[in-house]
Amino acid sequence: MAFRLPASQLCKAAAANPASAIRPLRSLGIARNVPQQQLRWLATPTSSPPVTRNATGSKGPTAIVFLNMGGPATTDDVGDFLSRLFADGDLIPLGRLQGYLGPFISKRRTPKIIKQYAAIGGGSPIRKWSEHQCEEMCKLLDKMSPETAPHKPYVAFRYAAPLTEETYAKLLADGFGNGKGGRAVAFTQYPQYSCSTTGSSLNELWKWRQRLEGKAGPLEDGKDGTIQWSVIDRWPVHAGLVEAFAKNIEDKLAEYPEERRDKVVLLFSAHSLPMSVINRGDPYPAEVAATVYAVMQRLNFSNPYRLCWQSQVGPSAWLGPQTATSVEEYIAKGQKDLVLIPIAFTSDHIETLYELDQEVIGESGHADTVKRAESLNGNPIFIEALADLAKKHLDSGISCSAQMGLRCPGCKSDRCLESKKFFAGQTTVPEA
Ligand code: FES
Repeated sequence: MAFRLPASQLCKAAAANPASAIRPLRSLGIARNVPQQQLRWLATPTSSPPVTRNATGSKGPTAIVFLNMGGPATTDDVGDFLSRLFADGDLIPLGRLQGYLGPFISKRRTPKIIKQYAAIGGGSPIRKWSEHQCEEMCKLLDKMSPETAPHKPYVAFRYAAPLTEETYAKLLADGFGNGKGGRAVAFTQYPQYSCSTTGSSLNELWKWRQRLEGKAGPLEDGKDGTIQWSVIDRWPVHAGLVEAFAKNIEDKLAEYPEERRDKVVLLFSAHSLPMSVINRGDPYPAEVAATVYAVMQRLNFSNPYRLCWQSQVGPSAWLGPQTATSVEEYIAKGQKDLVLIPIAFTSDHIETLYELDQEVIGESGHADTVKRAESLNGNPIFIEALADLAKKHLDSGISCSAQMGLRCPGCKSDRCLESKKFFAGQTTVPEA
């Protein structure tokens, strides 16, 4: 359904009649599943902070928007989550059959996935961890970068609440954009870039930028009062990230008897991708391998290691070797001391809590010697790393990395073309 009320009029309308302002958001699918009471913030522009610099010359406030895939908060949300996931051609390319096969596959998988979420406590912890990480990081950033403070935390998920459109509407309601300008940093929570993950989230962010703030851009110093965006698009070998992973591995290795410790095989595990995506030229496998190598370097190559790939779906060819098969094969070879390390996610999710813990380790027959390193979750080393990344990005004045501007050699997507052009063309530092 078309969105008939321009975003620039939304706050005025909200002030006059909150219910009327919420209606067009619902028609857009924004906060479809959020109760009326929880939408109050969308209709209360009078409580929004002004997006202006203060008397000390601060360039803030600065919105920090964490991008991630999200996960269903309850088992009732699994169906919607899967239908959005399988509708995303950037993640699961089904070509012209996407509109038919996507709903078919998601519907078929829903009962099985509901059972998996039920087995990990009834929902994904990814929202809890993302909000915690972003809030704590912003507190650190306020001290490290007072000139861009206050830093306001937001989370935008691709397939679950809070969806990108909800978060964008919240930014507008909080006083960013709508003629006031203001700066927002899109901070991917996938350390290694893939067009299926970070690329998909950025394409979605660009789509909602166009719908809610108009088609103008690239902008000139934000003079039209829209939000000025910049992007932290990859950080596979950041020293703090590497340290946080290495520390978690050392803690897990310490659980093995000393005489066996240096022979434990470290099995790094990342979400796999279809070979069609890899062969298009996606940078993800190289960046995941870079993280693994940096972590091993930090550990002085203390142990033998391999990188394997998990969570393959469907019959088409995916990048391997698969994690589950690798564990079985090492055990069959007599190597029963194994530490699994989730290397491409920044918090626990179904792939760690169910797939690795309950399926791979639980069914290995050697749950006492096959272990998993902790996920990053609330790790303070990791949260400091996030703040350091954001500080360096804010100081750099760049809109995104040079690498983000380069499309995959096999990319035929107009979405990629336009969204990359938009983000690369943003001016990041407001005029003094
Ligand atoms: Fe990689 Fe479009 S698929 S840039």
